[in-house]
Amino acid sequence: MQNQPFSLMIPYPGFRPSHVDNHIVRHLSDLEGQFSNQDAYKQMLEKKDVVLYEVYEIKRPEIAGEILMGISIVHPGKVGDEFFMTKGHFHTILDTAEMYYCLHGEGFMVMETPEGESAVEPLAPGKVLYVPPRWAHRSVCSSRQEDLVTFFAYPANAGHNYGTIEDKGIRKIIIERDKGIEIKDSPHFNEKPISNE
Ligand code: 6PG
Ligand code: NI
Repeated sequence: MQNQPFSLMIPYPGFRPSHVDNHIVRHLSDLEGQFSNQDAYKQMLEKKDVVLYEVYEIKRPEIAGEILMGISIVHPGKVGDEFFMTKGHFHTILDTAEMYYCLHGEGFMVMETPEGESAVEPLAPGKVLYVPPRWAHRSVCSSRQEDLVTFFAYPANAGHNYGTIEDKGIRKIIIERDKGIEIKDSPHFNEKPISNE
């Protein structure tokens, strides 16, 4: 890992950084129990374990003072009425913030604190979102055709706590029904994890 100043390109279209240290691909099966309509989820998974999103990370030493950057690309699609989304996470070091810059598409950032405050911010190209310390964050793609693409940066020692959201879910969900896009309270939040047994 170099210690010289470095730059990289984020080309349009495609948005795959010219330098990538880690490429994460998340499938439908990686979000088991997270979508509200479990029947729709199971039917979809039986057909195909589709790719929901990808992350291109530009890694740095995971120490205080360094910043980890990357590109997150959430693909368009729905499970039942609910749009494709990321797993969502708190940072292991809770008191670490994150910055998102939306490059393409449209969607939302669903956020909440351990104390139960929740917030939903719309995302569109050119929008910069600041996720303060202590706020979990989940990206949701609400376009029918276009990927939701964001550039992100956060303290390289922050870490990812996925367990809390895997267990409890997140308070708000983004769905699309006849009336259009709606932000709803999750019918499953805090319920005992849905198991397939
Ligand atoms: C991070 C960022 C961001 C996030 C991706 C994928 O802390 O690394 O928030 O890069 O990881 O948007 O979302 P999940 O990490 O929730 O799968
Ligand atoms: Ni994060």
